[in-house]
Amino acid sequence: GDSLYPGLGNGGYDVARYIVDLFFDPGTGEMAAVVDIQAVATAELDRFNLDFVGFDVLEVVVDGAAADHERADGELIITPARPIAAGEEFAVSVDYAGAPDRIASRASSLPVGWITGADGTSYVIAEPDGASSWYPVNDHPLDKATYTFRVTVPNPWQAFANGTLVDTITDLGSTTRIYEMPQPMASYLATVVIGDLEEIDDPASTAIAGVPIRNVLPPDLAASPPAGLDLQGEMLAFLESVFGPYPFDLYGIAVVPGFPGALENQTLSLFGDGFVNAPIFESVLVHELAHQWFGNDISPGDWSDIWLNEGFATYAEWLWAEHRAGPDRLAQLAEEARERMIAGDAPPPGRPPPGALFTPSVYQWGGLTLHALRLEIGDDAFFATLRTYAARFSGGTARTADFVAVAEEISGRDLGALFDAWLYGDTVPEL
Ligand code: ARG
Ligand code: ZN
Repeated sequence: GDSLYPGLGNGGYDVARYIVDLFFDPGTGEMAAVVDIQAVATAELDRFNLDFVGFDVLEVVVDGAAADHERADGELIITPARPIAAGEEFAVSVDYAGAPDRIASRASSLPVGWITGADGTSYVIAEPDGASSWYPVNDHPLDKATYTFRVTVPNPWQAFANGTLVDTITDLGSTTRIYEMPQPMASYLATVVIGDLEEIDDPASTAIAGVPIRNVLPPDLAASPPAGLDLQGEMLAFLESVFGPYPFDLYGIAVVPGFPGALENQTLSLFGDGFVNAPIFESVLVHELAHQWFGNDISPGDWSDIWLNEGFATYAEWLWAEHRAGPDRLAQLAEEARERMIAGDAPPPGRPPPGALFTPSVYQWGGLTLHALRLEIGDDAFFATLRTYAARFSGGTARTADFVAVAEEISGRDLGALFDAWLYGDTVPEL
């Protein structure tokens, strides 16, 4: 029932865990996979759907018994041999094969999903609706789950995924890596990254951050890491001082050729190689790291709440600039953003158009909304609001009203008019 994308996700059950076991050959582009899903029925189910696009589905098993299945319009429709009672735990296993590909997104003209570049490098850009291009999934952030990835690639390719590497199995001609993501993850943040890539530990950043920092880099960048990449430990420590404890067990970025953006995949943000020597690299590093708290640990309860991701990550960029260069720099960034928003004709951040979810206002006008809140309630209440919100909704989802309620509780003020004007008004208010 997402307000922007009602077709995303499915009702009737709640997934607890995905075990994604896949073989992928970048040379042929072919995948063979088995995905095991552990779920709880929230209603009696004669039938249920998963979001899934492409592939040949070879077999579906529910609680050990073969299940009927059919495909329709981005859905895998499963009829188990016997109905599942409300409240019952059940297990689904989907065996499939084929060549994964990007799919059209509801949210913009840019495709989403599993991408294999010309050189074989493969990765996932799934926000908001591309996860179903590579695994059968309840594709909405409301159904977060834990994940295990078991990824096999032919030598000499290397595979990486979200979370902690728990095992590496070398076989004749192939390597399997097993990753665990024990904290709940929204489906759009799941990724595998495959390429001629190396995992490089950053011990200096790790020492500052207190959690392991490692990056996945092409050989040339691994040999001489780009300037700014070594700031991630300091960035993480700074954001912890503002938002509270880092929510996951490790962090780092994966850099891939060709991709013209960045995406905050959980514990392993994806960066196109064009970013790494660009002047904005430092602020995009802070941006994607900030999403680990806002977007990843707390995911939007509805896609119309996207400013809770992008406005917060943008404001984190400005907070980092304030930390490094002082309050005048923050004021300047806010004023420049306000001028850009006034000059543009973007809708307000609380009403993103379904076909342009990542409209600039969810970033900049969203960031300005937080700055306006800070100026209104003062630094003490503002930063206490951020930390209280981060702690209270950790591991789950939140809506805009949840954040407003925390700000009102901490400040003791009625902030309805402020948020109405900043999030839903047609013109950018005065700071
Ligand atoms: N969340 C990303 C960011 O950090 C933007 C994702 C855009 N989505 C896409 N399908 N290109 O700005
Ligand atoms: Zn972002």
